[in-house]
Formats: sequence, C-alpha cells, structure tokens
Amino acid sequence: MRILGIESSCDETAAAVVENGRRVLSSVVASQLMTHGKYGGVVPELASREHLRAIVPVVTTALERAGCGYDGLAAVAATSGPGLVGSLLVGLTYAKALCFARGLPLIAVNHIEGHIHSVVLEAGERGQPVEYPALALVVSGGHTHLFEVGEGFRYRLLGKTRDDAAGEAFDKVAKLLGYSYPGGPVIDGLAPYGNPQAVRFTLARMKGNALDFSFSGLKTAVLRWTKQRDLTAEVQVRRDLLRQNPSPSLAEWLAVTPQMTLDLLASFQYTVIEELLRHAVASAERIQARSLIVSGGVACNSGLRAAAHALRLPYPVYFPSPELSTDNAAMIAAAAFPKLIRGEFADSTLRASANLTLA
Ligand code: KG4
Ligand code: ZN
Repeated sequence: MRILGIESSCDETAAAVVENGRRVLSSVVASQLMTHGKYGGVVPELASREHLRAIVPVVTTALERAGCGYDGLAAVAATSGPGLVGSLLVGLTYAKALCFARGLPLIAVNHIEGHIHSVVLEAGERGQPVEYPALALVVSGGHTHLFEVGEGFRYRLLGKTRDDAAGEAFDKVAKLLGYSYPGGPVIDGLAPYGNPQAVRFTLARMKGNALDFSFSGLKTAVLRWTKQRDLTAEVQVRRDLLRQNPSPSLAEWLAVTPQMTLDLLASFQYTVIEELLRHAVASAERIQARSLIVSGGVACNSGLRAAAHALRLPYPVYFPSPELSTDNAAMIAAAAFPKLIRGEFADSTLRASANLTLA
C-alpha cells in the first residue's frame, strides 16, 4: 500500500511516496534556504509563498520518481501541525484537494510524530524493527521534546523545552556571531576545531519537571561572553563574507574564525549535547526504555551522534540518516501507515494547527 506524504510545516516543501510504511519509493525536498538565509531565520509570509510555488512540481516529481500515478495510491497524508500556519495550510489544502479529486482517503500527521517515524521507517527497512517502549528525543529548530513511545504508537510527553528549542539555540548563536542560517550545520563543522572545555557554561536547574529543558539562558551566556570580549570586528568580517557568498565552505568559515571563537563554539555545542543526552538517558531509565530514538534536524549533529554512541548504553540508539533527520515527507507517509491500517482518516473540515500537540 502506497501513501503520498506531503510536508510543508516550516521552510521545506516536501513530498514522498512510501510503500507499507517502510519502503521509500521517492522523497523530494525543496528547501527555501536561499529565500530565508539573508534574514537569518524563516520569514513566515515568504515561506507560504514559496510553498505555493513549489507544491505542484514537488508532488509531481515525487510521483514520477516513484513510478506511481494517483491510481497507485492508497491514501494521501499531510502534516496538519505543529508549524507555521500559513505554511501548513498550503500542503494540507493541496492534500485535501487531491483526495477530493481522486477519491482518496486523507490522513493527518503530527509533524513531531513524523520525526519519530523517520527512525521507525529506516529500522523497518533494515528488517530490525524498533523495540518498545522507546524513548524519543525530538530535537529540531522548533522542538525539543522527550516522548515515551509505546506499542501501537501511543505517546506520552516526559519533558520539553520551556523556551528555545535546541536547534533555535544553534541558529541564534550562529546569527549573533555572524554565521549563516541555519546555524546548526556551520557550528557542527567548526566545533571539532575548538576546545569544548574552554568555556564553562552552567545551565539553569529546572524547577518542577527535571526532564524539561531551557536553552535561552545558554544563548544569553554566549551573548554576554562575546560582549565582554568585543567581537564586533570579527563578526563584521563574517557578515561581509556572507554578503559576498551566501553559502561559504567550512574552509572559508575557518579562515575568519579565530581560535577563541572556535573554543566558544565547541563549548556551546558540548553544553547542548550534554544537556540533551543527560535528559534523554534519565527519561529512558525512568520508562525502562528498550531503545532510544533521536530525531529532528539537530540529530544531524556529528558531535551529538558521537557522544550518544560513546555512552555505550545498554539499549540500541537510533539516529535517522541525515536526509531523514531534517524535514522531509517520507517520515509523514511512514507515520500515516499505521493510521491507514487502523482506518484513522481525516475529513475536509480538518484545520491546520500551529500548536498541535502529540501527547
Ligand atoms: O527538523 P528541521 O529540519 O526543522 C524543524 O522542524 O525545525 O530542523 C532544523 C533545525 C535548525 O535549527 C538547524 O540549525 C538544526 O536543525 N540543524 C542542526 C544540524 N543540522 C540542522 N543542528 C546542529 N547540528 C547540525 N548538524
Ligand atoms: Zn521538523
């Protein structure tokens, strides 16, 4: 059974065809990085317009690459939230129209559930399904959430960020230091050249739920550190570089990053990774997890991957392949498969929801 998945919750327009929830026949992602890069973050109004431009060619290409016509589909799945409401609306409305025109069932998928399913999908593809209960750390530009994932994909929220998401912290720190958007990949590339122990950042202890996160204090600490050392000149050099070249290479960034700043970046990344893993391991212990899933854009981070594997945890740790870590539609089609089996369909009254929760 083939599902066409459509994802448009933020700044990627994506479509994919996935068979039986575990075989990716096609996965197309049109990124809007070039549009938003110069603003240092996603501009919602521009994002909606870009989705409108991209949705038809992206869906058509996904079907062509899968060698599949509308007749070969069992359902269409679309992200209904959380995300930017104007962006969600484009993908969801397009999916509704396709379902209406072709007489196909519509399946609504929560974006966060999608991220979890990128791991479930690849584990299924390898023939080694994830064991439950699993602890899922979903860590991206919009979310930093810890979920218990039970048999039959029942979710329980164990902790979340009270302010910035981890990816947002990467993006904000990169922006204040003059690097490009998104900041995660740049900091990931530069961090190995710095000393992660050089700057000691202390994170606020959480009152209430000890599994919650807070990253806004860390961003402020980085800002304070840069102000104390007056980095205005070097930040300006990087902003000038970015004006001439919207996507500098790692070597070009290295050439305009003094050692002290490399140390700062390495220490910042180290602190984020420590915090993410400390909470993930504590939550996994609490629910006696049989596996740990890390997903979302920040799951691309090579330092996070290395640190998670170095812990040698007594249960398997799963990261999606990098293409399925950031936003994509294969994860949406995969998350829709169990709903197709259960007959959980949406109707045309379904609304996009900016703050949709998973549990
Ligand atoms: O999942 P995603 O594509 O979109 C959201 O749902 O937010 O995640 C994008 C986020 C951005 O904040 C980006 O900086 C971060 O993921 N990211 C990374 C890396 N690659 C992307 N953060 C750290 N290291 C990376 N290699
Ligand atoms: Zn995402």
